[in-house]
Amino acid sequence: MKDGPYSFEIKKPNYIPSQYDNHITRHLSNMAGQYLDQDDFENQLAEGDNLLYEVYELKRPEVAGEILHGISIVHPGKVGQEYYMTKGHYHTVLATAEIYYTLQGQGYMVMETPEGDWSVESLSPGSVLYVPPRWAHRSVNIDPTQDLVMFFAYPGDAGHNYASIETQGFRKLVVEVDGSAAVVDNPRWAPPESR
Ligand code: PA5
Ligand code: NI
Repeated sequence: MKDGPYSFEIKKPNYIPSQYDNHITRHLSNMAGQYLDQDDFENQLAEGDNLLYEVYELKRPEVAGEILHGISIVHPGKVGQEYYMTKGHYHTVLATAEIYYTLQGQGYMVMETPEGDWSVESLSPGSVLYVPPRWAHRSVNIDPTQDLVMFFAYPGDAGHNYASIETQGFRKLVVEVDGSAAVVDNPRWAPPESR
């Protein structure tokens, strides 16, 4: 972690930052219970523990005035009809936002609030996505041929809260139907008042 101002580069073809502190990798085994098609999940896992996504993070002090930033890369693939995606989370400090700038690929950001409001925004090169405070977020790669690469930035004290998403997933799933991406209801999801 640097003390003073710094700059670095994020360039084609692999978009790996020219400097970073953490390289986080998430494999299929880290996504247990997240995909609707449990049978395909188990079958694929028996064949090998595929790398689904990676994060290159520049570490900053975990205080409100800082801005954590880095690159996330979601690889192409599917479990059942559901595309490879991040686990997704609320921020531990719920009232913190996030910004994503898409560099490569095609995808969706699936979002929702604790009250059950939902939103799905598309991601393509050059698009800027603002995730407001209180919105959980998960990125999904819908292009079978290339990585979804995004730059992200969020407050240093935000933290990650995976627990409620791990329990029942997001309200909406992104699945392939007749060769294209479709947003459908998640049958495992229950409205907040019935949990
Ligand atoms: O903070 C963010 O939203 C991103 O940096 C994510 O952590 C990244 O996309 C990986 O997703 P997740 O933390 O849900 O596994
Ligand atoms: Ni986040």
